Amino acid sequence: MAGDGRRRRRLPLSLRRNAVAWERQRPTWRDAKPALIAGALKRAQARPSGNWYVMGASRDLGGDRPLGRTVAGQEVVVWRDADGRTVAGPGVCPHLGAPLRDSPVRCGALVCHWHGLSLNGGPFAGWEPLPAHDDGVLVWVRLDAVGGEEPLDAPVVPRRPVPARALTAVYAGTGVCEPEDVVANRLDPWHGAWFHPYSFVDLTVVDTPEGAGEDAFAVDVSFKVAGRLVVPVRAVFTAPEPRTVVMHITEGEGVGSVVETHATPLGPDASGRPRTAVIEAVVAASDRRGFALARAAAPLLRPLVRTASARLWRDDLAYAERRWALRSTGRFPGA
Ligand code: FES
Ligand SMILES: [Fe+2]
Repeated sequence: MAGDGRRRRRLPLSLRRNAVAWERQRPTWRDAKPALIAGALKRAQARPSGNWYVMGASRDLGGDRPLGRTVAGQEVVVWRDADGRTVAGPGVCPHLGAPLRDSPVRCGALVCHWHGLSLNGGPFAGWEPLPAHDDGVLVWVRLDAVGGEEPLDAPVVPRRPVPARALTAVYAGTGVCEPEDVVANRLDPWHGAWFHPYSFVDLTVVDTPEGAGEDAFAVDVSFKVAGRLVVPVRAVFTAPEPRTVVMHITEGEGVGSVVETHATPLGPDASGRPRTAVIEAVVAASDRRGFALARAAAPLLRPLVRTASARLWRDDLAYAERRWALRSTGRFPGA
């Protein structure tokens, strides 16, 4: 495998020979054992999150609006105070309940647009701040009453490439499902080439938690670039905490790159069904150094970044929603 890896690094782009038609690829359903996926999900759910929830992208902080979202039925706002610190708290104005997510930030203070009550991030008039954390890519908020776990000082942030040598993109979508459905989708690597043939081909799961190694799924897969042109990589999937699945590229172009999928429960919709935000951060690294990094690396990293494309998103959310629909009506075959 090592020689294979070296070859891949020298020639990041490959011309796919002996392309196999979609219906002629090897079925993966025998390997994708429901109990294996369920076991990995259960272990993920048992790991501590410290009650931290991903709110959104760091780059959305610092403007003249707070980052506002309902997390597990609670309205939360996050913004940067006058000293540049990330502050958070309830999104309901303590005066008469205005939605603070629609209020402007002025000189680091969140100024309620109904009657001008001004919050600087500290406790005020019954408004109590919540712990917040900006990891440079994502913004997290800690909700102890919702999580019910032992609180941690900081969230469990996955290992990432150094920002100066990385391209970062954050995508967000919403589905009718629970966080575990999003996590279960990502802990099923076997669906890749079958369900997303427009993005992935030649997928082989080379290690699972049943193997001797870590609690991870390792996958050899090629990202489609155009026609028969592909970028072969090895990707390793782990779940460092209950609502996060991380894909690390460990061989091939963009070694060290990560795609983090975070699931944040939003609360029920009008019909009482659960809604979950999927917030995905792509932190793509390249060995190609220097000012031209973005230009030099972008064409090769684009397939990776495109793993967060609209079509993949739509399909994976449909998978998660389907899983929830079956689960909630006692029809899920993997149960
Ligand atoms: S509702 Fe916010 S100041 Fe009155
Ligand atoms: Fe998928």
